[in-house]
Order: sequence, then structure tokens, then C-alpha cells
Amino acid sequence: MIIFKDISKIYRIGGEEVHALDHANLHISSGEFVSIIGPSGSGKSTMMNIMGCLDTADKGQYLLDRQPVTDYTENELTRIRSQKIGFIFQSFNLIGNMSAEENVELPLIYQKLPAKKRKERVHNALEKVQLYERRRHKPNQLSGGQQQRVAIARAMAAEPSLYLADEPTGNLDSGTGSQIMDLFQDLHEHGNTIVIITHDESVAAQAQRRIRMKDGHAWEVAI
Ligand SMILES: Nc1ncnc2c1ncn2[C@@H]1O[C@H](COP(=O)(O)OP(=O)(O)O)[C@@H](O)[C@H]1O
Ligand SMILES: [Mg+2]
Repeated sequence: MIIFKDISKIYRIGGEEVHALDHANLHISSGEFVSIIGPSGSGKSTMMNIMGCLDTADKGQYLLDRQPVTDYTENELTRIRSQKIGFIFQSFNLIGNMSAEENVELPLIYQKLPAKKRKERVHNALEKVQLYERRRHKPNQLSGGQQQRVAIARAMAAEPSLYLADEPTGNLDSGTGSQIMDLFQDLHEHGNTIVIITHDESVAAQAQRRIRMKDGHAWEVAI
């Protein structure tokens, strides 16, 4: 499903070059649960942004579903980002003046789903993360863990098959973090592909496979 072939990404700031990714190679099959672990600045977010078609490589090739991403049209990429991939971020990225249910519904409005279908999807997703009772709460009326569960419900409502999570438990205590990890386990058991970035070894250990990153390089960790 995901193949990185010798991918490099170079940022130039002033006269200096930063090799955020340096000939990184990676292979993730459909249905796998993979964690990417590494210190701050090792290139994890850059890798995820390329995986999610939010950014492009400078060198190398990224194949998504056997096809180089450079072959997809802009319309196809937009559809992939909104329907095929569910994004989850460390800081939740919820809209502050919208309720939990409005946040979950918003991407479905962009997808032009009919209202009845949207309500059904929002209801199911919020039930799944056990927040249906709090559907009218705004983000600032919810705990960090609850906000992240709303963010996961928002991703789930679009029914993607690939979930990309960049430090989803980074702002949470370990108990709350493990509830979040349980949700990813459940999504994995339902056949979805899960890629989680973390710098926490205990979070990384919950995946089937671990990829370690350092200085823009990626390699498999034997479990
Ligand atoms: N937009 C950017 N402009 C310049 N440098 C960047 C940018 N994004 C990331 N970098 C640099 O690339 C390297 C990898 O960053 P990142 O992928 O965010 O690492 P991680 O997520 O592992 O902390 C770091 O040295 C970072 O400073
Ligand atoms: Mg990062």
C-alpha cells in the first residue's frame, strides 16, 4: 500500500541544508499496524506528511496503492486525502467554536454527503469513541483525551482505510494515551492500516512492526 523508494526531502534555510529525509526506504502493506519511532527532528513528521500526500519528496519515489503519487491528478490527491486517509495530530486540530458533532460532521459536508448519511456517520463515530453524550460540547469543555477521541471520530466518519497519526498521545497522560491506543487497535482489528508516529517506546511497542528513524534514515526494528 505504501512504498518509499529512496526518498529525500531537503529544506534550505538561509545557506544551510537540512536533510529531513535522507534516502528513506519503507514498505507498509495494507492492514498493517506500524509505529514510527525516533527522536525529535529525525524526520518523522516529514515522512508522515509525504505519506499523507500533504507534502512531496525532492528525490525518490512514493508509491501509494502501487502507483507513484506523481501520477495522480490534483483532484485524485484531494479525494485520497479526504476519503482514503484519516489524519490525527498531537494537538487534535479541532475547531474551537464548533461542538464535537459539528467537528465530526464538517469533513462530510466538504465531501458533499447527504444530511441523513452525515448524521448517521457522526452518530456512529461518536458512539464508537464513547462521546455521543457529549456531542454538543465544545473542545474547551472536553479533556485532552476526549478531544483526541473527537478527532479520531472525525477521521473515522469519513471511513478511510489508512489512519496516519502524528504523536496522537503526545499531549496526554499515559492512562488517557492507552485509551487512544485501544481505539487504534480496534480500527486495526477491523482491517484498517494504521501508522502511528511516537517518541514513546511503550506506545511504539503496541504496533505489529516498528520503524526507527534517525537523521532522516528509516529502518525496521526487530521485535
Ligand atoms: N518546513 C520546514 N522548514 C525547514 N526545516 C524543516 C521544516 N520541517 C521540518 N524541518 C526540519 O527537518 C528535520 C525533520 O523534521 P521533522 O520531520 O518535523 O522531525 P520529527 O517529526 O521527527 O521531529 C528537522 O531538522 C526540522 O527542523
Ligand atoms: Mg514531528
